[in-house]
Amino acid sequence: MSMNMNMALFLMFLVLHIAWLVASSDLRAGFYSKTCPKAEVIVRDVMKKALMREARSVASVMRFQFHDCFVNGCDGSMLLDDTATMLGEKMALSNINSLRSYKVVDQVKQALEKDCPGVVSCADIIIMASRDAVALTGGPEWEVRLGRLDSLSASQEDSNNIMPSPRANASSLIDLFQKYNLSVKDLVALSGSHSIGQGRCFSIMFRLYNQSGTGRPDPAIDPSYRQELNRICPLDVDQNVTGNLDSTPLVFDNQYFKDLVAGRGFLNSDQTLFTSPHTREFVRLFSRRQTEFFKAFVEGMLKMGDLQSGRPGEVRTNCRFVNARPANLLLQSPRDMESNDK
Ligand code: HEM
Repeated sequence: MSMNMNMALFLMFLVLHIAWLVASSDLRAGFYSKTCPKAEVIVRDVMKKALMREARSVASVMRFQFHDCFVNGCDGSMLLDDTATMLGEKMALSNINSLRSYKVVDQVKQALEKDCPGVVSCADIIIMASRDAVALTGGPEWEVRLGRLDSLSASQEDSNNIMPSPRANASSLIDLFQKYNLSVKDLVALSGSHSIGQGRCFSIMFRLYNQSGTGRPDPAIDPSYRQELNRICPLDVDQNVTGNLDSTPLVFDNQYFKDLVAGRGFLNSDQTLFTSPHTREFVRLFSRRQTEFFKAFVEGMLKMGDLQSGRPGEVRTNCRFVNARPANLLLQSPRDMESNDK
């Protein structure tokens, strides 16, 4: 390769890198204070109503932040429905029959579109709604940075390749989080999101009956808790039946960590955080000091919320679909449009 070519490639890398940095530093608190001053109040209000209608729904919405931000940045891509030319993320391995309460985001979006059409992105809705879910269930409050754009496409394949399995062990989770600049402490604190919500029998059958192909249950499970889980998820159960992720599933608190110390974690990926010496001390710390957990959790959510792909985007008017394009672009897939936009 010639010197000039090398230089050109280096400059291109630099420009892309800077574009990414600029994009992430564009986020700021109060982003909508002029363009949609009631945005945060509106989101909180819809989340309150969702909580009253079905308490679990706010946990389900909070999970969106993880599944959105880890797959090509926080860009609302996981909210896109499949189209004839695009397999979206809703049917990805970790999401199918599992992510739920998309309708709550639709309701937030409708309320926002009424007040200030075309202004607040779906990606930002996920960030605000996740914060609200935590605050409304007894957890910490924090100020969110806003100003994200919505993606023009989604990728089932990327989601399949990235999102961790409930069987994951601590080392693989540490490696995964590290790729996003999230520390071991961030990993343990963010897993504390399982202080609210539920999981399916599908996610724990292996650890109840055949951990690592042994034909035996996971030895890390407390025996009386295992009996409880066996009752909820017998071998012939409909695997969509759900159990609580901790013993206070409607309250965001540090009970999740106390449960892990007692061998009463629901998912393998939860219990492994206490089994592994790399993560155990953080589990212990958070089980004793809720304020430490809350502080670390907020830091983790802010860091995760800053993940951005740097790709071009838009403010969708309906979170399920990219906005309509001019007729001459309609024959192209959203991926082609992305390259046009560059
Ligand atoms: C550390 C890696 C993680 C793994 C392996 C993991 C895996 C899972 C699994 C398997 C479920 C139950 C799904 C089902 O059975 O249908 C679940 C539920 C949940 N996850 Fe995670 N998760 C992780 C991290 C996170 C993070 C970082 C957040 C948010 C910040 C989060 C929020 C939630 C919530 C709130 C639920 C309950 C949702 C509901 O009740 O609908 N998880 N997670």
